[in-house]
Amino acid sequence: MDPVIIEEGVCHMYPVLIGLMGCGKSSIGKLLAKELGITFLDLDHYIVEKAGRTIPEIFAEDGEEGFRDLETEALREVLGSPVVIASGGGVVMREENRVMLEAHSPVIWLKSSLHFLAGRIQGDENRPLTAGRDALTVLQQLAEIRYPYYTRCADYILHRGQMNKAASLHAVIEYLKQWKYECERGEVLSQESCMELDSFLTAE
Ligand code: S3P
Repeated sequence: MDPVIIEEGVCHMYPVLIGLMGCGKSSIGKLLAKELGITFLDLDHYIVEKAGRTIPEIFAEDGEEGFRDLETEALREVLGSPVVIASGGGVVMREENRVMLEAHSPVIWLKSSLHFLAGRIQGDENRPLTAGRDALTVLQQLAEIRYPYYTRCADYILHRGQMNKAASLHAVIEYLKQWKYECERGEVLSQESCMELDSFLTAE
């Protein structure tokens, strides 16, 4: 697959993946970045690298609010860069972040059932919000608060259902084709614009 050609003066597209913990933002984000020929950026990893501490350490030392401060700073730094961003599930918790994400396009919400997500993250000590707790109960509480925010920020919601990674990636790419089509006709209302996807999108 040829890499995407990004030209000077052409508006570009840099997808951001959002959704609850365990929904596949990182794994699908990596595949998507590879397909698009651009770099993958995991926002949590970016924060960890910058802080020189793990996520559990940041939560333990600075609390969740301290982590959210770093997350907002990180989002501000990377949003709009030529990368596919996998955000942390709680990135929508700050109004400032929601405003940034709303102004950005395309933002893709990977939505899965809470039972599925709970099965994936139960027992993961690297996720302080669920570590040592019943993941499903926590996810239910988070979903109540965050679903309206994800809905507000997302340009596209992928209902994963039984879709595996490959099928999810395919669906995201189909959406991006449509996005590009609309973008080229000036139908996408966004501060960002379209990217040169031709080399990729026409190579069926
Ligand atoms: C969080 C999700 C995590 C990480 C942190 C907080 C959340 O990222 O940012 O543990 O509030 O949902 P993932 O969604 O990649 O697990």
